[in-house]
Amino acid sequence: MTSLALPAIIQGGMGIGVSNWCLARAVSLRGQLGVVSGTAIDSLFTRRLQDGDPGGHLRRAMAHFPIPGVAAIALRRNFLERGRPAGVPYRMLAMYHKGVGRAREQLTMLASFVEVWLAKEGHDGVVGLNLLTKLQLPNLAALYGAMLAGVDYVLMGAGIPREIPGVLDALAAHEPAEIRLEVEGGRPELDATIRLDPRAHWEGAPPMPLKRPRFLPIIASNSLATMLARKASGRIDGFVIEGATAGGHNAPPRGALQLNDRGEPVYGERDEVDLAKIRELGLPFWLAGGTGSPAALRAARDAGAAGIQVGTLFAYAEESGLAAEWKASVLRDAAAGAVEVFTDPEASPTGYPFKVVRWPDDPTRTAEPRERVCDLGYLRTAYLRADGRLGYRCKGEPVDAYVEKGGQADDTVGRRCLCNALLANVGHPQVRAEGRVELPLLTSGDDLSSIGGFLAGRVRYTADDVLDYLLGDAPSPGESHPTAR
Ligand SMILES: Cc1cc2nc3c(=O)[nH]c(=O)nc-3n(C[C@H](O)[C@H](O)[C@H](O)COP(=O)(O)O)c2cc1C
Repeated sequence: MTSLALPAIIQGGMGIGVSNWCLARAVSLRGQLGVVSGTAIDSLFTRRLQDGDPGGHLRRAMAHFPIPGVAAIALRRNFLERGRPAGVPYRMLAMYHKGVGRAREQLTMLASFVEVWLAKEGHDGVVGLNLLTKLQLPNLAALYGAMLAGVDYVLMGAGIPREIPGVLDALAAHEPAEIRLEVEGGRPELDATIRLDPRAHWEGAPPMPLKRPRFLPIIASNSLATMLARKASGRIDGFVIEGATAGGHNAPPRGALQLNDRGEPVYGERDEVDLAKIRELGLPFWLAGGTGSPAALRAARDAGAAGIQVGTLFAYAEESGLAAEWKASVLRDAAAGAVEVFTDPEASPTGYPFKVVRWPDDPTRTAEPRERVCDLGYLRTAYLRADGRLGYRCKGEPVDAYVEKGGQADDTVGRRCLCNALLANVGHPQVRAEGRVELPLLTSGDDLSSIGGFLAGRVRYTADDVLDYLLGDAPSPGESHPTAR
């Protein structure tokens, strides 16, 4: 595929660390779009270094980071040659806030650079970076780091990424970029912006201008697509249109929230995207959410889409960052038809519905309730304190602390600490008192419950197997499979 051709398949961004560089590289090598997740990438990166960087991949990429001195500092502070001794907690980073120092920005740039650099190493396929719009604070640094590694696409959902196209233009020229920080209870006249000035990171002039990646917002409504196409701060290169069956966070239904008898949000006709109107915008689009099959790829093409974005099937592939024990356990139960996906309206502190996997061997089913701790803080939102300064709070933090910060106790009910759980999902759980470790909280699309057909008796599979299946090069389920293990 040349860099101008559009991919038929986008392997969706899956944070934290599920769509890691190994998965994205495997997809990109096949001429499709592999996407790395940039969510919480700095914490993930420092945990991998503390676990000894098996294989030396991070260190290999770090040696190419162009801003002098940054990689050496990150190594000195985080790398443990023999990994962490058993039972020792990870060293934490300070939580993000507006105006973090240069060192913190550089660590985020480096982490994002490394992930993209490794995904692109040794081939000329295209690689994308996925970020959640709502998690505003680290995003500018993550974007600049990825662009220093030559990222080809940026894909952002979970919010309205109207300012991002202009940000990409600015960063490509090493010019200062800004986004408005959303402040709960804030007033527009207050100066609440997040700013990154790339030139402040270079001694002397920065290098040549960078490639401006293509930008694909991830949207779930016609109105948002139209608004972005007309009013974004710069060029939009297409859309990913994501339905409510997709893994991860979902857009909430329109109108008043109604729950079905399982307690899940009810979606109706008003939540459906009118593809005729999308076609009128004249930009390429990809369909996501339950589109992980060759039939769905054909249907998407027939509807005028460039292709599909698929998450769930890739999440359980060998290359993904999901810890091997969870992959094996979920696939075993899924093959037996015993896995359910629940759209939890409360679990995510963002307030967006979040898909949660329920499976018989889930270790959290029998675990003690987790004591609330907020020490990663990616989902914290800014709010205006009584003294006029900015504070930060998360609906998943200890209830007393949240209420003391002016939050409503009701808003904390049912919230889970996604930051800690999602790092546990990918094999980097924090160790707590008495050796307890943070437990996982898996997310997947509704289609996980019917993955048995795709597995066709296999207990493991690769990204190549997923691509062969989607592109129609694989035998249909039931036939003997050449890569069956
Ligand atoms: C484990 C997992 C994590 C995900 N995390 C993100 C994310 O961080 N950002 C995002 O934009 N989408 C995320 N998604 C959505 C995927 O990128 C993709 O759009 C979706 O999975 C497609 O639908 P499917 O699950 O039916 O294949 C996630 C999906 C899964 C399964």
